[in-house]
Amino acid sequence: MRAASRDDLPQVIRLLEAARASQDLHLDLADVVADLGADDLTVVAAVENDLVGALVGRLEGETGRILAIVVAPEWRDRRVGASLIEYAESRLFGRGARKVTALIADGRVGSLSLAERGFEAIRGLALYEKAETIEPSAMSVLHRWGGELVPLERWDEFSGLRAQREVVDERVLAPLLESDLAERFGVIPPTTMLLFGPPGTGKTSFAKAVAGRLGWPFVEILPSKLGAEGLAMMADELHNAFEELLSLEHAVIFIDEVDDIASSRAERPESQAVVNELLKAVVRIREAGGRLLVCATNSIGSLDPAVVRPGRFDLVLPVGPPDSEARAALLGGMLESIQSSVVDAADFVEETEGLTPADLASAVQRAASDAFGAARRGEPDAQLDAARFRRAIRATVPTISADALAAFHREADRFQRI
Ligand SMILES: Nc1ncnc2c1ncn2[C@@H]1O[C@H](COP(=O)(O)OP(=O)(O)OP(=O)(O)O)[C@@H](O)[C@H]1O
Ligand SMILES: [Mg+2]
Repeated sequence: MRAASRDDLPQVIRLLEAARASQDLHLDLADVVADLGADDLTVVAAVENDLVGALVGRLEGETGRILAIVVAPEWRDRRVGASLIEYAESRLFGRGARKVTALIADGRVGSLSLAERGFEAIRGLALYEKAETIEPSAMSVLHRWGGELVPLERWDEFSGLRAQREVVDERVLAPLLESDLAERFGVIPPTTMLLFGPPGTGKTSFAKAVAGRLGWPFVEILPSKLGAEGLAMMADELHNAFEELLSLEHAVIFIDEVDDIASSRAERPESQAVVNELLKAVVRIREAGGRLLVCATNSIGSLDPAVVRPGRFDLVLPVGPPDSEARAALLGGMLESIQSSVVDAADFVEETEGLTPADLASAVQRAASDAFGAARRGEPDAQLDAARFRRAIRATVPTISADALAAFHREADRFQRI
């Protein structure tokens, strides 16, 4: 599922034409085509290089409109429609829509999926409508903070961090998603989580996936932005940030590189006020409920002891490089999308030990660019093969050195709290 690019237009138009020919679409094609490419509100479902579905969207003021949903006949009844709608909804609501409507004839492609996604048919008109549950004032807070509505599938599609996912699933998501049941058992849902680990291991991606699963907006507080007015103002700015973000009924509030604002007070006395403000925010979030504060750091050892003390963060989770299973899944996913690749990811699980998801992506890119170069030089049958990929892996310098990895394992033993 992704936003359509200009290159997709011919395929999208072909899908629309086919749907119109089989009477599945009763719109003026010219009208629909005019909306394609006007902004990025047309989304497509792609399987490798083939588009198997498309949804043409448009934003008019605060109303998002779904103008057409088409799914290739051989891909019907495989939830493509529902996934397209879900993805488009999150983009439309994320761009300021307060209501999304779809004009689809009853019984046509998409109408069942719309009903399934909670759209209500206005009978006779066959106009499907769904209102965003987020208040307009909250929407403007989200815009100001660059909030994001993350698609639900992000959680299921996340590769790796299996142990962490299981913990979060059981301890965080289940009590929040089944709050009535949790309450009956006296289970108090956690509201704060600290992720620590080397750069590029997926801390930010993981926090976003959690927001996607909860269906709560993801909002990031950037320590670098808070410091703009000088350290003295930072505590006030942090206070104001939480004040505003707590006006959202639900949110995953993410602070990356939290060590920038909460490093040890002993070493940096001027951060005392900021650390205090963060601790106050933890208390406020706990009292308010319905929000999750996720902080991330590369150097948990430099955080103020008051921040990592029990009672502050409900969960403290190490996020390290992917294990072999995760590497197989990550590499498989990356190579699968490259047409000229003949590499079997399973063959490279051992050789990629210690590489982060970001390192793996860079090795794949290096090999892809090597194969591309060969093709441009006119080499017949140039492809991303095992030999090229092996060279690329050897040329990739791991982000995490052996020493850093050993230090991380020591920190994991010391700080982890689940
Ligand atoms: N499980 C995953 N599946 C697919 N891609 C991933 C995964 N984890 C991380 N990535 C990719 O690796 C890159 C780095 O991930 P991310 O930014 O989440 O790491 P991070 O731990 O937050 O890094 P930093 O400490 O530098 O902030 C991103 O491009 C992300 O898309
Ligand atoms: Mg990050």
